[in-house]
Amino acid sequence: MIPDSFKQDLLNRVDIVDLVERHVRLKKAGANFVACCPFHNEKSPSFTVSPSKQFYHCFGCGAHGNAISFVMEYQGLGYVEAVKELADSAGMKLPEFERWGGASKAESEGTDLYAVMKQAEQYYREQLKNAPAAIAYLKGRGLTGTVAARFAIGYAPDGWQNLQAVFPDYAARALKDCGLVIDGEGGRRYDRFRDRIMFPILNQRGSVIGFGGRVLGEGEPKYLNSPETPLFEKGRELYGLSQARTAVREAGRVVVVEGYMDVVALAQHGIEYAVATLGTATSPTHVQKLFRQTDEIVFCFDGDAAGRRAAWHALEVSLPVLADQKAVKFLFLPAEDDPDSYVRAHGRQAFERLLAEARPLSEFFLAELRSRVDMATLEGCSRLIHEAKPLLKRIAAPALQLQLLKQVAQASGVTQEEAGRLTEIRGAAPGRPVRPAPPKGPDRAMLNRKLDRELLACLLAHPPLVREVPAEVVDVSHAEGRALEALIALDGIEALTHAVILELLRESEHASLLNRIRSEFLHKDMDTEVARAEFDAVIEAIRRRNPNPRIKELGEKAAREGLTGQERDEFGRLIAEDAALKQRRMPPSTVL
Ligand code: UTP
Ligand code: MN
Repeated sequence: MIPDSFKQDLLNRVDIVDLVERHVRLKKAGANFVACCPFHNEKSPSFTVSPSKQFYHCFGCGAHGNAISFVMEYQGLGYVEAVKELADSAGMKLPEFERWGGASKAESEGTDLYAVMKQAEQYYREQLKNAPAAIAYLKGRGLTGTVAARFAIGYAPDGWQNLQAVFPDYAARALKDCGLVIDGEGGRRYDRFRDRIMFPILNQRGSVIGFGGRVLGEGEPKYLNSPETPLFEKGRELYGLSQARTAVREAGRVVVVEGYMDVVALAQHGIEYAVATLGTATSPTHVQKLFRQTDEIVFCFDGDAAGRRAAWHALEVSLPVLADQKAVKFLFLPAEDDPDSYVRAHGRQAFERLLAEARPLSEFFLAELRSRVDMATLEGCSRLIHEAKPLLKRIAAPALQLQLLKQVAQASGVTQEEAGRLTEIRGAAPGRPVRPAPPKGPDRAMLNRKLDRELLACLLAHPPLVREVPAEVVDVSHAEGRALEALIALDGIEALTHAVILELLRESEHASLLNRIRSEFLHKDMDTEVARAEFDAVIEAIRRRNPNPRIKELGEKAAREGLTGQERDEFGRLIAEDAALKQRRMPPSTVL
């Protein structure tokens, strides 16, 4: 846990414009700065950085956040690491944090685990130079020294405790925490990787977080991988991503393959935009990570049954993450090939031709569903719709959803309306409203929530206003009201900025609501003056719509048992305020 006060200091100290500018060229545009988004591929700038709000937001891909989120996303760091990195750059130390020893993701009893991994990597690379058998193996697989260096490929020599030469304190906990050694029975410790070709796995920032070790030739297991450690979470990482970044941007797409050697061999043949999952199924995090870099993902799997299963899984996890301008494609190689063998046999151009003809998601989707049912029968056709339903419902991108629905309808011989009804997808029927029309007459609850959202926008635009929210306008019966309450609770904090608010509430139930509101108002670019004017107007509107319950309460008490002197004063004041409000509501003509 990093103390909140530290996060606030940090966010107040760092300027997001400075920070972003170190990585992205920004152009001034009114009160904000704009650039082409570093998190997705685009031609015209929709990435906006607001100096007054200390926030960035991309209207293209939706990436958004404060300085800490920027470092996390841009450098591919975890939360704690990002805070540390940012603190370092601002010359701030995390003293309390250091003392909690072991709480840090990247430390073990004060030892920096990244440094340990780096040292191991260097050792393995050094060892490769003196290992003719390993060099011969790599050469035999068509690799040159250049590509071996690009991927920092190394060799772990045979022997049980070679790492002792690198780490004199071989008993240190850090070695275990990094997954470099194994504590055997009887407390005997030995090196995990022995007589293997070593493939370092990097995070997006380029730090070594794990290794994959291949036997030279035959042997079990073929690949031995680092276990999950504080640095390494398999389901989130992609082998080769750090090396592929530039090429991915240039190519406008990324190819996802299954093996270490596939990535390396493709790079050897000039296809540098490939990455591999690490012996795990494709995860939503993988897809999200890749879509931040590019608009097109091509999954390239073996043509066999296992490859199709893996592809179908990738399709399923992609559905909720897809946006309309993003594309997922599938490339199935001939059953006897993997990308490594294919590119070696046929070369770069042949592989890129296959990539160009990769199947769009929609095509694979339908083909796969069709293959599951007997399309010659009526039952089969309705089964198709039944199978498609849960998948279609998972799609967040409206145009894609509609397109797939159309195809499903066509394939099963029903109208689009019918398919829409059967799959319960709204908006399927052309010409009919997407949602039922809002109820006639003002729906009070809805309007109150809308007003609260406007109020929240004002507070985010100009946080000192939290001090001025009258208690009686807070209505905690809906989410907006509860968020309002949470914001007011931050009142005591000095130098309360919009970025600090979102930081303090980022883990709370209010985070997503506040983020949505933030992107709305960032679009409007509400400055302090506008925020104050709107604030007054919204408070007034809330009061008008919801007469102060205190008036009713005091009125009842007066009738029942009478009021104390203090209550009588309050009652008088409230009634006068209420009357003034009603007066203001009158159209000017009646006032005259
Ligand atoms: P493959 O067996 O397809 O790997 O496994 P590959 O890269 O093509 O291997 P070679 O060197 O050309 O024979 C795909 C991936 O599955 C994981 C690895 O990440 C591998 O790259 N795997 C495979 C393991 O983790 N352990 C294994 O024993 C085998
Ligand atoms: Mn292979």
